[in-house]
Amino acid sequence: MSQPARNTIPAGISCAADYENHARNLLDPVAWSYLQGGSGNDLTLANNRRAFDAIPLWPRPLADVSGGHTRLQLFGQPLEHPLLLAPVAYQRLFHPDGECAGAMAAAAQGGTTLVSSLASQPLEQIAAAAQQTGGVAPWFQLYWQGERQRTLRLAQRAIATGYPLIVFTIDAPVKLASLTLPGAIRAVNLEAPLAAAPVAAGQSQVFDGWMAQAPTWDDFAWLRQQITVPLLLKGILHPHDAQRAADAGCDGLVISNHGGRVLDGAPAAIDCLPAIADRLGGQLPLLFDSGIRNGRDVFKALQLGACAVLIGRPAIWGLASAGALGVAHTIRLLRDELEATMAQCGCKTLSDIPASR
Ligand code: FNR
Repeated sequence: MSQPARNTIPAGISCAADYENHARNLLDPVAWSYLQGGSGNDLTLANNRRAFDAIPLWPRPLADVSGGHTRLQLFGQPLEHPLLLAPVAYQRLFHPDGECAGAMAAAAQGGTTLVSSLASQPLEQIAAAAQQTGGVAPWFQLYWQGERQRTLRLAQRAIATGYPLIVFTIDAPVKLASLTLPGAIRAVNLEAPLAAAPVAAGQSQVFDGWMAQAPTWDDFAWLRQQITVPLLLKGILHPHDAQRAADAGCDGLVISNHGGRVLDGAPAAIDCLPAIADRLGGQLPLLFDSGIRNGRDVFKALQLGACAVLIGRPAIWGLASAGALGVAHTIRLLRDELEATMAQCGCKTLSDIPASR
């Protein structure tokens, strides 16, 4: 399943979505179905797209947008645009340069990437790759490691390596499907797996087995006390949970349904954003992912309350097609579309984008 190094931008790419076909033709079918898959009947996967397509954009002609830009500050980092790379596991499945390629591409484009707990390259190497192209430091995505001390050790290793911020993903506690990885590709930054929690006769594999090693709000409160860098939660959809996270000292949220990969039937993430933005009223920065496929979608997410977005599968289509160059090109294409949308909607800067909820 290992992929040859492709490092040339294919002909005929005019938007980020054009990379999808290239990636489909290039990738091994197992890697492709792992990348594209949703869960269950793919209801949520389809909802994500349907919901974006249903949101109108209002043209506002004749606005003077000269000198416009997409710059922003996020958690003290200066970024050229609000397009971050989502954490995606095992990226060497898609290109031999793996996570390092995305880190270099994001940094070269003036943005940043979120490095998965399930990265297939060492955290130190990925951070160094981002530095090579002169960008800001990548962020670290934390998965619960079955119990508190193991989880803290992983977070502390990332912080000690220079990752300035931790994004704790909480929406995937129950693993229903697992990928058989080729031998050379694995989550190289994790300790040996924890033994499964014992399940006695009459107990439930879910409640007493898997969920015994899943985090709770108490664990989050504990983690918050241990970690001094900004701590975000990824995978919040319900306004009550958003409020609870804010009350528990969270520094920001990623409104996300994991790209439709976890709870099939969960609402489109973009449909959840306005209620959370209303509920929190600017208390916390809100980031967004799930279903973004072009720069107009980015504009819509910003209109509905996000300050920045994460790009999942489209970045991997670019990675599989042309390595770091393909990821950088994907980011640039999305940014060009965002700028064109801003110009047509009369917005010179991100702060001009009107709240629409
Ligand atoms: C993911 N996602 C993910 N999220 C996370 O927090 N940690 C992870 O390790 C992974 N791994 C992962 C693997 C693959 C193959 C995919 C497609 C996704 C979810 C990801 O960060 C993001 O939430 C979604 O991909 C966003 O949806 P789109 O942009 O793919 O529609």
